[in-house]
Amino acid sequence: MTTLCRLASLRAYTPDTVVTNDDLTKFTDTNDAWIVSRSGIRERRRLADDENASDLALTVAESALEAVGMEARELTHIITATCTPDFLSPSVACILAGKLNAGPVMAFDFSAACSGFLYGLSLVRSILAGNRDANILFVCVEALTRRLNWADRSTCVLFGDGATACVCSGVTRPDDATVDDVICKSDGAMTDLLAIGGGTACRYGLGQPVGPDFFVQMNGRETYKHAVRRMTEVCEEILGRNHLAMGDVNLFVPHQANIRIIEAVGNRLGVESDRVFTNVERFGNTSSASIPIALAQARAQDLVRPGARVLVTAFGGGLTWGAALLRF
Ligand code: ACO
Repeated sequence: MTTLCRLASLRAYTPDTVVTNDDLTKFTDTNDAWIVSRSGIRERRRLADDENASDLALTVAESALEAVGMEARELTHIITATCTPDFLSPSVACILAGKLNAGPVMAFDFSAACSGFLYGLSLVRSILAGNRDANILFVCVEALTRRLNWADRSTCVLFGDGATACVCSGVTRPDDATVDDVICKSDGAMTDLLAIGGGTACRYGLGQPVGPDFFVQMNGRETYKHAVRRMTEVCEEILGRNHLAMGDVNLFVPHQANIRIIEAVGNRLGVESDRVFTNVERFGNTSSASIPIALAQARAQDLVRPGARVLVTAFGGGLTWGAALLRF
C-alpha cells in the first residue's frame, strides 16, 4: 500500500547578511568573473557571529508551525538534516525541541550532506507508514560558512547558509505537497571527494591551530563529473519506474550547487531551461537546505500551480544522491 506523505507549509529562511563575490575578494584571492563563469554564484548568505544552525532552524520552524496552525506539543518527531550542526551532541533537533517547548518528542539529526532533503523525505515516509498519526517537523539547516577555509578559494566561494522547515503528516492540508516517490543512494568508496571536518577524525589539542581537515575539502573536477552522471541517472530511474517522461514534469528543481552542473543535467534529461528552477546565483550551495529553499521560492513565485508535478534531485558528500517526485 502506498503511504500518504504530505509536506505542509514548507518555509525557508536565509540569514540577512549578504556576502557578494566582491566581498570575498577582500579576504581570498578570487574575482567575480571567475566565480560567476565557473559556478553561476553572485552572492550567498552568512549567519551572524552569535548565531548557530539551531537559531536558523528555530526561526524557520516557528514560521512553519504557525503557517500550519500547529502547536509544537502536537509534534511526534523533530528530524533535522544537517552536516553543520551546533554540536556533535546534543542534536540540533533536541536543541530545537527545547526551544519550541515540544515536550518529549522523538528528536534527532542525520547527515546525508546535500542529499539531506531527499533522505529526509524517505525517512518521514517510512515513519508515516508505521504511524499514520505522526506529525513530523522536518528541518534542513546548514551553517556552512562556519566550516569554510577562507584561504581555499576553490571551495570557500561556493557555499552559503540557510534553513527550511515543513510539517509532514498523512493529513491533507491547504498549501501542501504529496511525496509520490523517492530514491536515495550512496557510494561509500568515494568518501574522499568531498568532506566537512570537525568530527573525531580531527585531532586538535588545546592551543593547536586547526588544519585544512577541519574545513570543507573537495576535489571539484571529480565531484562535478559524478554529480552530473548520478543526478541524470537517478532522474531517469525515478521517471522510468513511475512510467513518466520529462514532458510530464512541470518543474525540475535540482540541487543548487553550481549552474554548470544544473545545465549539464538539464541538457542530458532534455528539459528546457524555462522548466528548470535556479536560485544558485543568490544563495550558493546551501547543502541539505538547497532544494527546499528553491521549492519554497518557486511556490512564492507562483511557478508551482495546484496539481503541478515537480521532480527534484540532489548529489553530495558521502557520496550521496537521489531524486523525488512531488505533486502540489
Ligand atoms: N577564483 C579564481 N581562481 C580560482 C578559484 C577562485 N575562486 N578557484 C580556483 N581557481 C583557479 C585554480 O587555482 C586554477 O588555476 P591554475 O589553472 O592557475 O592552477 C583554475 O582556477 C582552474 O581550477 P579548477 O579547479 O580546475 O577549476 P574548474 O574549472 O574545475 O572549476 C569548480 C572549479 C567550480 C569547483 C568545478 O570543479 C566544479 O563546479 N565542481 C563541482 C563542485 C561543486 O559544485 N561542489 C559542490 C558540492 S557537491 C554538490 O553539491 C554537487
